[in-house]
Amino acid sequence: MKENKMRLDRFLAAATGCSRAQAAQWVRAGRVRVGESIAREPSRHVTDGEGVWLDEAPLRVEGPRYFLLHKPAGYVCSHRDEGGHLSALRLLDVPRREDLHFAGRLDADTTGLVLLTDDGAWSHRISAPRRACVKVYRAELAEPLVAGAETALAEGLMLHGETRPTRPARLERLSPTLVRLFIDEGRYHQVKRMFAALGNRVLHLHREQVGSLTLEQTPQPGQWRVLCESERDGV
Ligand code: URA
Repeated sequence: MKENKMRLDRFLAAATGCSRAQAAQWVRAGRVRVGESIAREPSRHVTDGEGVWLDEAPLRVEGPRYFLLHKPAGYVCSHRDEGGHLSALRLLDVPRREDLHFAGRLDADTTGLVLLTDDGAWSHRISAPRRACVKVYRAELAEPLVAGAETALAEGLMLHGETRPTRPARLERLSPTLVRLFIDEGRYHQVKRMFAALGNRVLHLHREQVGSLTLEQTPQPGQWRVLCESERDGV
């Protein structure tokens, strides 16, 4: 039977959506492993049974995909451009990106960590309240935060128009107007509404962390990467 094989740079382009020139750079930089060995030649072939890893994240051309994006301000977490903002999907130059969905959205003016996937069960796991996956936000506030905010957040706030208080949240004060908030739910505009309930206003919001995932490897807005298996399973 004929063995299926593909040039490595083509494989990398198909699995991640990068250009073949970019793929060749990754290979030359020693970031790509085929089987047990670091690949050196972008033109080498990979066969069906051989595993390929980029920065130790396994790559596949088919199957569920998992991405972490550092969303810049001005992009919407939606499949379409909306309200004069471009869709954040445009930042991911990968094949079939329209099949991906956002595992938790950020507002257009919010920056930071966004997860995208075509695996509905995985995104459900991240968003399901029962799972209590922690999201960490850094918020710059218009006014110094009231004393006692910690207690109010820990006890739960009643948001405007809702009947159920928010789940206990934790606050760290970084300065009088800069705070870090830890929440494990994801209601509509939740963080901004929580600070509104405390008589304040969020000037800038940035999501630093979802579960165990951070922006450490994607420090620049607009950067994205493929999640490796252990990150995907351990989020
Ligand atoms: N909470 C908000 O208010 N906005 C976001 O973008 C995310 C959480």
